[in-house]
Amino acid sequence: MTIIAGVLPPSRETWEWACYLFGYFPLITAIQWTIDWYPQGKTSTNSRFNISGKWGWCTMESAGFIALLYIMFTLPSELGLSSLPWGNWTMAGCFVIHYIYRAVLSPLVLNPSMAPMHPLIWLMAFSFQLFNGISIGGWLAGYGPTTDSDWAGRYVYMEVGLVLWAWGLLGNAFHDDDLREIRRAADRKQRAEAEKTGKPLEGVEKVYMIPKNGLFGYVLYAHYLCEWAEWAGFWMVGGWACHPAKTFLVNEIATMLPRALQGKRWYEKKFGKEKLGNRKAVVPGLI
Ligand SMILES: NC(=O)c1ccc[n+]([C@@H]2O[C@H](COP(=O)([O-])OP(=O)(O)OC[C@H]3O[C@@H](n4cnc5c(N)ncnc54)[C@H](OP(=O)(O)O)[C@@H]3O)[C@@H](O)[C@H]2O)c1
Repeated sequence: MTIIAGVLPPSRETWEWACYLFGYFPLITAIQWTIDWYPQGKTSTNSRFNISGKWGWCTMESAGFIALLYIMFTLPSELGLSSLPWGNWTMAGCFVIHYIYRAVLSPLVLNPSMAPMHPLIWLMAFSFQLFNGISIGGWLAGYGPTTDSDWAGRYVYMEVGLVLWAWGLLGNAFHDDDLREIRRAADRKQRAEAEKTGKPLEGVEKVYMIPKNGLFGYVLYAHYLCEWAEWAGFWMVGGWACHPAKTFLVNEIATMLPRALQGKRWYEKKFGKEKLGNRKAVVPGLI
């Protein structure tokens, strides 16, 4: 079923334009290097336009994997392809697994609380996801490799890439969970106190502490670093020719690096530099 003729699923021309335009996304996120205003998460503001953190994350982050799946199931027949090679489905699987975790499980099931966000942040992330879903989806669904022989000779790179992808995902989820544990522990403490003293529960929204486990001992944004490793592995699976996977990784870094540096300034202000020790923002010993 075609949603918008020539756009969803994308014609070759639309797909090429989407890939080209998405390559310029770092120009939009460049503004984050110059200002500390970022109305989401730790730095969320009180605005009457705010969206719920949990539903905001779920809806904005779902756009990419839904677009990708839709394109994978509609474009091949439009292009006269009877099936896609297993390498394409492997990459699609990696992408979908990550975003089921990020867009569904994390916000709706696992995270104890998430700060509200401004619609502008939602819109930027939604656009990022849509462009990314179209560019990776188009490559996987017929504008990239279309036969098993297109993948031949690349198996070692694919295996190493998959291992890196899997460790990156595990590392990302492990460090995400370390942050969740801070709020779960605060909740347990409040409940124990409430039982003893009858004091009403305050809730754990916006309760922050310095995370200490795993790579958090070296950097404040260990979950970001692991996610970059994950998408570097994904790019390795697709190979140099997979320019949408490269653009994805570059755009993630361009978006998340200034956010991590901003976050480090936030931690310094809240807890004091001495409490952070030698921790960097995101790359141990460097940045
Ligand atoms: N931000 C991006 O641009 C971006 C882009 C791509 C992927 N991601 C991925 O998405 C995930 C979430 O990213 P994010 O930018 O929202 O990360 P984040 O600011 O570190 O927040 C992650 C979650 O942990 C909570 N949290 C953060 N620091 C905490 C602390 N010191 N103590 C207790 N709880 C804390 C946050 O609560 P609050 O919401 O209440 O602050 C939020 O629920 C990460 O795994 C990241 O790799 C992010």
